[in-house]
Amino acid sequence: MESMGELKRSHFCNDLSAENVGEEVTLMGWVLRRRDHGGVIFIDLRDRWGITQVVFNPEVEKEVHAKAHDLRSEWVLAVKGRVERRPDDMENPNLKTGEIEVLVSELRILNTSQTPPFPLDEEMEVSDNLRLKYRYMDLRRPGMAANIITRHNATKAIRDYLNNNNFLEVETPILTKSTPEGARDYLVPSRVNAGRFFALPQSPQLFKQLLMVSGMDRYFQIVRCFRDEDLRADRQPEFTQVDMELSFIGEDDIYNVAEGMMSHLFKVTRGIDLDTPFARMTYDEAIDRFGTDRPDTRFGLELISLTDTVRNCGFQVFRTVVEKGGLVKSINAKKCAHFSRKDLDNLTEYVGQFGAKGLAWVKVKEEGEWQSPIAKFFTDEERADMSGVLQAEEGDLLFFVADQPAIVNQALAELRLELARRLSLVNKEVFNFIWVTDFPLLEYDHDEKRHTAVHHPFTAPKEEDLGLLDTDPGQVRSRAYDMVLNGSEIGGGSIRIHQKQLQSKVFNALGISNEEADEKFGFLLQALELGAPPHGGIAFGLDRLLMIICERESIRDVIAFPKTQKATCPLTDAPSSVARKQLTELYLRPDWE
Ligand code: AMO
Ligand code: AMP
Repeated sequence: MESMGELKRSHFCNDLSAENVGEEVTLMGWVLRRRDHGGVIFIDLRDRWGITQVVFNPEVEKEVHAKAHDLRSEWVLAVKGRVERRPDDMENPNLKTGEIEVLVSELRILNTSQTPPFPLDEEMEVSDNLRLKYRYMDLRRPGMAANIITRHNATKAIRDYLNNNNFLEVETPILTKSTPEGARDYLVPSRVNAGRFFALPQSPQLFKQLLMVSGMDRYFQIVRCFRDEDLRADRQPEFTQVDMELSFIGEDDIYNVAEGMMSHLFKVTRGIDLDTPFARMTYDEAIDRFGTDRPDTRFGLELISLTDTVRNCGFQVFRTVVEKGGLVKSINAKKCAHFSRKDLDNLTEYVGQFGAKGLAWVKVKEEGEWQSPIAKFFTDEERADMSGVLQAEEGDLLFFVADQPAIVNQALAELRLELARRLSLVNKEVFNFIWVTDFPLLEYDHDEKRHTAVHHPFTAPKEEDLGLLDTDPGQVRSRAYDMVLNGSEIGGGSIRIHQKQLQSKVFNALGISNEEADEKFGFLLQALELGAPPHGGIAFGLDRLLMIICERESIRDVIAFPKTQKATCPLTDAPSSVARKQLTELYLRPDWE
């Protein structure tokens, strides 16, 4: 192995072009590929910036050429040589440096490499576990490196925008007290306070509200949050929020700032001009039309309610569900009557995962005639009424689910997405942003037999619904909003409660006693009594946003060192066991041994 010695890198691997022909240059980087052509050795040398072809010609530098024979993938080199124009037929228009090559006169091998655990060729499918175990190799792949660079550009664009709009970046504690955002806490035992624990923040929610009380109007932070919850492709146990809070504002002020920030972000990272203002839709409308509070509006296949139409129909399954307060909803898959029996069985099984007890279907034939296992249960008139509501035409395929509202909506929302995938209805070039507004304040948790906050307990109820807090808390709407992009919840926030009395009342509605409220949130209640201004804010999931910007299927692909679905890190082997002494110091006694 050799050292760089006095050699200094003169250019990066994407710098050189025809303009540099004749110059003496020094490049450093990794061997991406090696090709031998009639005794001449070509190496694609790679660094963060790009690729340059370097050439070892036996007729020019015999010794250097002999040394180049040993080079293998991912060895680390320093090369010195002269920039030459490539012969016309050897130019590579796909490469920024494709017009030139460097004829090497000096080669230093700075390090060798074992055969990489997987080819760094982008097209190769590699198992997630292997990629994470050798993440530093995975990040050498150009696509992954590009994601990390886009992430840098994104956070810079966000900082620039917020800085230009008078925001202050303030850091909040990582070792703190539980912030209720609906997940389990990660706990850290205290060594100096026996039997006491810090919680890692699920979000900086309470601190950002306290910053408003302190007058730090217009706070933001690009901040790590921790949630011990079941993981999915768009969830990590630690993830990053773009978190903000403003004082003396209403919903429209938040929408303006957030839309401005998104426009700047998409311009910088994708060169796209977004249309503002973004569309808005109430929670009720979203559930009604799409079955979910994060609708993907890039395609149709909307849900249509048939509950009233089938209330007295001949099909007992539908009638009974309606009698019990359930719903019957439908999707008209236009021109899909050609679906095979197997397709239909498949889809029935698919919605079954979401609790649907069945998936009734109808193929619409000539003159509106129904081909369907359930056709016989309906009179001609009933069939005509249903077809009318669904605007059914020859060649259409109608799907129905009857059940409790939550099941019907979820099953059909998922069916809608699955149909869109199968029918290739999703245009990847389109970015549909929507604000979903007017969420319910509370939802009933049947297991815990009490109401829980739909957003979080600090969200303000709508003023006009305040009276319902005592009489019908489930009906109270909140001043919460989500930003949804192409069916993904990329941000959520609310106008907050800034008066103690109302905050206590909402705690009570959540079944939190005054004592418990004091113990958990006494510091907040106290602050609300020391001149808290009206305030509100929002937090965006940076990883989810980047997943969409980088067109990836998993947020792991936009995080340098993410965790597996089981919340482990195959690279460092975390979480790992610790010495008994450490446990004793923390006053912990294992019961897993
Ligand atoms: P919320 O809980 O909605 O709001 O979180 C805000 C956004 O963070 C993203 N997100 C996640 N991303 C990756 N992995 C996760 N496990 C994960 N959980 C959430 C989502 C989500 O929209 N304090 C409030 C915000 C506020 O009221 O201002 C909060 O945390 O994109
Ligand atoms: P059955 O009479 O139970 O065999 O059902 C006839 C058809 O109705 C089958 O295609 C079932 O998949 C469908 N079906 C049964 N229950 C439901 C339901 N709750 N919602 C929608 N379709 C259903």
